[in-house]
Amino acid sequence: MKTISIANGPQNVSAIIQGCMRMPALSKEDAAKVIRTAFDCGINFFDHATCYGENGAAETRFSEAFPLTGLRREDIVIQSKCGICPERQEFDWTKENILSSVDDSLRRLRIDYLDTLLLHRPDLLFDPAEVAETFDALEQAGKVRFFGISNLMPMQIELLKKYVKQPLIINQVQLSLEQSQLIDQPLYMNNKTTDYSVSRDGSALDYCRLHDITVQAWSPLQKGMFGGTFIDSPDFPELNKVLGELAERENVSKAAIAIAWILRHPANMQAIIGTMNPAHIQDICAACDVKLSHHDWYALYLASGKFLP
Ligand SMILES: NC(=O)c1ccc[n+]([C@@H]2O[C@H](COP(=O)([O-])OP(=O)(O)OC[C@H]3O[C@@H](n4cnc5c(N)ncnc54)[C@H](OP(=O)(O)O)[C@@H]3O)[C@@H](O)[C@H]2O)c1
Repeated sequence: MKTISIANGPQNVSAIIQGCMRMPALSKEDAAKVIRTAFDCGINFFDHATCYGENGAAETRFSEAFPLTGLRREDIVIQSKCGICPERQEFDWTKENILSSVDDSLRRLRIDYLDTLLLHRPDLLFDPAEVAETFDALEQAGKVRFFGISNLMPMQIELLKKYVKQPLIINQVQLSLEQSQLIDQPLYMNNKTTDYSVSRDGSALDYCRLHDITVQAWSPLQKGMFGGTFIDSPDFPELNKVLGELAERENVSKAAIAIAWILRHPANMQAIIGTMNPAHIQDICAACDVKLSHHDWYALYLASGKFLP
């Protein structure tokens, strides 16, 4: 497993993160297999959110399963996110909501601190001074070690940074070979003939690299927004052809090549995988042994439907 050290944050963490969004569908025995398989493959970082499953069911299932794994709390990094409130149809970064969300996550996960807490999606009514006060309270209470954000634009991060005194160490954003907006725009800059030139995130990737914020890529195998995987999808024949050729050359799965494509980027990103199939976890972790050349990386990018301007 490739490891990275997050600037101002946890050190020696796995470049591949096990996401737990899909865990509510599993029995606690199957969830334990997922956690243990991931750990045995070198994954020591697990991603949660208050909104994964009804009433935080992913966090609950995780804590029910964890004792069956033989692991200790301190063996792993546990991250959760808050701010998305599906039951109320709003995003909420008020002090009241963040504090109660963290307490709920700790109770469901049966732990006394989160390693990292991310604000999940921007609350359009957020008050950065209130967020700063909230982070101070969580830090002083020993409930959260490190703080970050998810799906946030650079100027929103700047606004937060004006008030929040803890470093914002992570920005979790969507990135896959098929959903590569994070990477596309600079390539087509100033080009009126294609939609790829539209800036959708205010140059979030370059901003994060400049400010030592680790990017975590969510849904690295999905097409669209939870549209199913592009792996083996008939909708992506060229991409699957190139994935297949490289998979054969490297003796790994196509999914491993798709993850290796993210890890090959010099931004030193983490990829958050969501499979709940232990065999898929093992396949994917082989991505860390794959050496994609500069040419391989471009061949995959172009096979996903993009072109050189
Ligand atoms: N911050 C955010 O806004 C945000 C949004 C979404 C997700 N996330 C995080 O990102 C994590 C990953 O998201 P995701 O589940 O959409 O990621 P993903 O890894 O792109 O997709 C996983 C899905 O693809 C399926 N799949 C099909 N073929 C596969 C193969 N060969 N190898 C692996 N998986 C295959 C899996 O099914 P099987 O289980 O059958 O393998 C699973 O349903 C989530 O758990 C969550 O932690 C964050």
